[in-house]
Amino acid sequence: MKTTVIAVDGFASTGKSTLSKRLAKALDFTYMDTGYMYRAVSYFALTTDFIQEDVIQEQALEIALSETSFSWSTNADSKQMLFNGKAYGDELRTLEISSWVSRIAQLGFVREHLVNQQRILSQLGSVVMDGRDIGTVVFPNADFKFFLIADPKVRAQRRFDELQAKGEDVLFEEILKNVIDRDHQDSTRAISPLRKAEDAVEIDTTSFSVEEVFEQMLSAVKA
Ligand code: CDP
Repeated sequence: MKTTVIAVDGFASTGKSTLSKRLAKALDFTYMDTGYMYRAVSYFALTTDFIQEDVIQEQALEIALSETSFSWSTNADSKQMLFNGKAYGDELRTLEISSWVSRIAQLGFVREHLVNQQRILSQLGSVVMDGRDIGTVVFPNADFKFFLIADPKVRAQRRFDELQAKGEDVLFEEILKNVIDRDHQDSTRAISPLRKAEDAVEIDTTSFSVEEVFEQMLSAVKA
């Protein structure tokens, strides 16, 4: 059976996950949030003392990570990704995790491990995957590729609203700084830097609603 891969890459808080989730639902594909995987590894590193005094204990983390894996929950209707058998939620989206994740995501052994896992986890059927390197590295032959961009202030406002709604006490300026720092770290890292694949469709989500961008993506896929 021919399976389809849709890659959705782009900068932080451009709406990638919301749009990818909707697209997957509309097409009856599996949605895979690869940012969740980098965030889960960052959470793992922080909570198991592989980050000490602001330094990542790379060797110890590499050994521990090689024994970890991601899987899909067997829960019927919506597939949930598990890290070492456990589902994670809002604890992965705090500003603390966001401030570590791009440093963790620069490490070659982390990327290698996660890209392997992503390829294995996508073997079940058609997928919509969102991330930073899906159309360039993980699936360079993806059937459809999107690249989302938006004004940094608008992106920071979206993330600020999301965190405030969850009761996290954050400052807009801190969020804006994190968004700009992550864009910089993600685009300038040596391994698999964030960049638009030549054949990706670029969409600027600054002044479009989720609904409008969703319609654009769906009609591109159905064309
Ligand atoms: O939701 P948001 O766009 O803010 O971020 P995310 O998709 O949850 O990704 C968090 C971080 O993980 C990014 O800033 C990257 O540093 C890293 N990441 C990556 O390097 N490669 C991916 N395929 C996905 C995420």
